[in-house]
Amino acid sequence: MKFPQIRELLTGKQAGKKIKLRGWVARKRSSKKIAFLTIRDSTGRIQVSIIRENNEENYNIADKVGYESAVIIEGLLSKDDRAPGGFEIKASKIEIIGPSENFPISKDQSQEFLLDVRHLALRSERLTAMLKINSSVFEGLHTYLRKEDYTEVQPPMFTTAGSEGGSTLFELKYFDKMVYLSQSWQLYAENFIYALEKAYTIAPSFRAEKSKTARHVTEYWHAEVEATWMDFEGLLELMENVISAICENVAKKNVHELKVLNRDPKELLKIKPPFPRITYAEALDLLKKQEIDVPYGADLGGREERAIGKFFDKPVIVTRYPREIMAFYKKVDPENPKVCLNANLLAPEVGEIIDGSERESDMNKILESLKHEGLDPKDYDFYLDTRRYGSVPHSGFGMGVARVVMWLCGFDTIKDAIAFPRTMTRVKP
Ligand code: 4AD
Ligand code: MG
Repeated sequence: MKFPQIRELLTGKQAGKKIKLRGWVARKRSSKKIAFLTIRDSTGRIQVSIIRENNEENYNIADKVGYESAVIIEGLLSKDDRAPGGFEIKASKIEIIGPSENFPISKDQSQEFLLDVRHLALRSERLTAMLKINSSVFEGLHTYLRKEDYTEVQPPMFTTAGSEGGSTLFELKYFDKMVYLSQSWQLYAENFIYALEKAYTIAPSFRAEKSKTARHVTEYWHAEVEATWMDFEGLLELMENVISAICENVAKKNVHELKVLNRDPKELLKIKPPFPRITYAEALDLLKKQEIDVPYGADLGGREERAIGKFFDKPVIVTRYPREIMAFYKKVDPENPKVCLNANLLAPEVGEIIDGSERESDMNKILESLKHEGLDPKDYDFYLDTRRYGSVPHSGFGMGVARVVMWLCGFDTIKDAIAFPRTMTRVKP
């Protein structure tokens, strides 16, 4: 006999038939006459009932079974409008495959405790839904970028120079010298494209973030894209298309998971280009209207970004930030040397999910910016070869995958959007 999954059972195609189900006990309750179990597998949950007078032995098993015990249930699949999902299994046999006693997670436990037992909390409906949505985000990225002829590459994780500022570099001992964990593929991206023209990676990035915000972790999966000949307009379009392709894939593949999280797939299908675009200077004006005063030249934080997001019903792209707060590789706007040709894509409620720019292709300007940031050009020697040998205009961006998942799931912390989140105070489990 085949073992159907719960998703299949809930379609009702096998109603009236005898079935066998494998899963875990998610909930139970019993009265003197009847016991109910909720069985879960990776695809959903279904109610199982055991009537005592028909089956004393199995009633006793159901009455005593511990949460998260692994079981095989045999019984009749029946339509029952009172059961969540509309179907119930009237069990004739319950077999315990892997017992579980005193499962540590019950209702109303603190966020911190749930993080301590994260390896077990992953079994919850909410986190299972997140893991599946996360997988569809990766799939959406790979499918779209490969369709557009981007080649996937793997940059190194041990590095000798940072690209996103020294304060968030993790230093570690590498035999007899010190190296850093990769913050971004940036220095490698701009080399890969001289071979491939269009390249992308999805890899871990490490940030020694001391800030305890709802959207910063110390390790996250970073989707980064870089292409030769792509100008600023082309970059903005690529950002929009990537986001829209991800939303479409999640809406298509995760109807059940979105429902578990109270999210509507139809809303995701509305996330189509073009997205509203405003400049950094215009963003400051919008903030003033909400009585948030940001002096020109200061970076936008989560609070400011969420406030900007409230003006739009789609993600919004904020362009042309002040040059002083931009990394050395970003191109200065030829029409306004005070700003860069850069763009952050802000998602509602989360803020920055993508950061990208046209890159400076002039060697001398890069050298100037490196010095301005207090960086030693010698550490960037191999990077600078991109400008020495056949430099061309190019652009690229980086997307924090967990921030996208946080947004799509409607979570209020990035920690819920990562299986095993790492922060300043947590590296276990
Ligand atoms: O804005 P960032 O630092 O930009 C870069 O690293 C560029 N080199 C990307 C590129 O152009 N290839 O990081 C890019 C994205 C952010 O927009 C954000 O979504 C995410 O990475 N991110 C983080 N996500 C979680 N925790 C953190 N500490 C993050 N820092 C950045
Ligand atoms: Mg950024």
